Amino acid sequence: TILILDFGSQYSHLITRRIREFGVYCELLPCTQKISELSWKPTGVILSGSPYSVYDHDAPRVDPGVFDLGVPVLGICYGLQEMSNYFGGKVDPCDHREYGPATLNILAAAASDAQSSMLFEELSSESQVWMSHGDQVTSPPEGFRVIASTNTAPFAAIRHNEKPLFGIQFHPEVTHSVDGKQILKNFVLKVCKASQNWTMSEFIGKEIERIRQIVGEKGQVIGAVSGGVDSSVAAKLMHMAIGDRFHGILVDNGVMRHNECAQAKKMLVDKMGINLKIADASDRFLDNLKGKTDPEEKRKIIGNTFIDVFEEEAKAIDDACSATGAAPVEFLLQGTLYPDVIESISFKGPSATIKTHHNVGGLKENMKLKLIEPLRELFKDEVRELGRLLGMDDELVWRHPFPGPGIAIRILGEVTREQVAIARKADYIYIEEIKKAGLYRQIAQAYAALLPVKAVGVKGDKRTYEQMICLRAVETSDFMTADWFPFPYDVLKRISSRICNEVEGVNRVVYDVSSKPPATIELE
Ligand code: XMP
Repeated sequence: TILILDFGSQYSHLITRRIREFGVYCELLPCTQKISELSWKPTGVILSGSPYSVYDHDAPRVDPGVFDLGVPVLGICYGLQEMSNYFGGKVDPCDHREYGPATLNILAAAASDAQSSMLFEELSSESQVWMSHGDQVTSPPEGFRVIASTNTAPFAAIRHNEKPLFGIQFHPEVTHSVDGKQILKNFVLKVCKASQNWTMSEFIGKEIERIRQIVGEKGQVIGAVSGGVDSSVAAKLMHMAIGDRFHGILVDNGVMRHNECAQAKKMLVDKMGINLKIADASDRFLDNLKGKTDPEEKRKIIGNTFIDVFEEEAKAIDDACSATGAAPVEFLLQGTLYPDVIESISFKGPSATIKTHHNVGGLKENMKLKLIEPLRELFKDEVRELGRLLGMDDELVWRHPFPGPGIAIRILGEVTREQVAIARKADYIYIEEIKKAGLYRQIAQAYAALLPVKAVGVKGDKRTYEQMICLRAVETSDFMTADWFPFPYDVLKRISSRICNEVEGVNRVVYDVSSKPPATIELE
């Protein structure tokens, strides 16, 4: 296992992602992690970049224990500067913050040294790398030597004369560093000699075993299932591990997409055999939402109603278990992914709340259930691969994410049954046309929202005064930032014409051309 210590760079989980692509398991931990408290010994360590300067009074510090492990260490950007700083080198602000491409010249000193040669193996002698830094090493620490430079950074790569300690100023994890992937691969496979045993099929076997260990011979588990890829994969793993002792609950909140419950049932129950209860609580949700227009209030109502319904269903399952003499329900399944784990363990603390996201997290204190999170080590694309290996349809595996509060946050203002019907129908047509045009997989998330403003139009010979549909489609890799998708005009034209013709109550369609930030992906 490779240990990546996160000093707060926006690129830290890209490093993690890249390394896993080589089939090497790695863990990203906050830089505050004490090396002496690790329960495993890393094969190598990577120190990430950081928004800090090593001279900031509150700058995150590297645990010197890293350098006593006797394993290779690679400092990237701030990681290099912090390593230099720790060993007594000099770091200074650059005249101008450097952000952009640079040409890396690998020096003769690297060629004559076995480990540096390994690090730069298969690289051209002048390789394009990506810089993003305000400080740089101006004098390497004693005992280190320079192995590569750029026009602006004479110490773009350094290494310790004896120990396998390396530092690089540029960011190999971003795709703009043309040979960056190769450098990371060389470090991990050649310098650290890490084994390539991280594959999804091995993961399935190990995870099923781990679930069985935790749950035991008789334990019962409940979990909310939404019909999305994460909860479906998690449910399938549970089902493979413990069969019908896993009880899935799908809450129909009345604001799901067209036909969604039926589709989820077909997939999860009919095809995958998961023990699933569909709780139709749509009236309860829609009644609770009556007259509410404030986005946060709508989100809270949906979150709280969800918790109430879920708890009632869970209690019914628990009662049924005890009636048959089975063990009580002791565990709660959650589909937490690795980025959520990283977010919550970041040394900077959780980022500011922009919107209160609705998920089942609120349940745990209430219900005194122990959490099981089979996907907590995985990134989204790994979950998709897992879904594929578990035999799920492409349709489900590649499904765009759908927020817990559903269509309710895509209908601005009050959510009524009539508004839900309009938004649902428009969304269905929109997604259908996107799929027909072969664009679904290029788009990270798309949906149609209903804007409750009215405008004048004409249908046939009649004047109309109707609402608007707002189309949203974004490209993003992490959902933290996003760009609007550049649709071909003919596709937009078809979508617009179909929605205006087929959805009653709508006479205009607009396309949202805002990026995140300053907009968010959802409208509320
Ligand atoms: P925003 O609108 O914050 O959305 O740019 C980022 C991503 O999060 C999804 N989202 C949610 N997912 N519960 C969820 O499970 C929620 O309450 C929620 N709100 C937003 C959104 O669909 C997008 O993918």
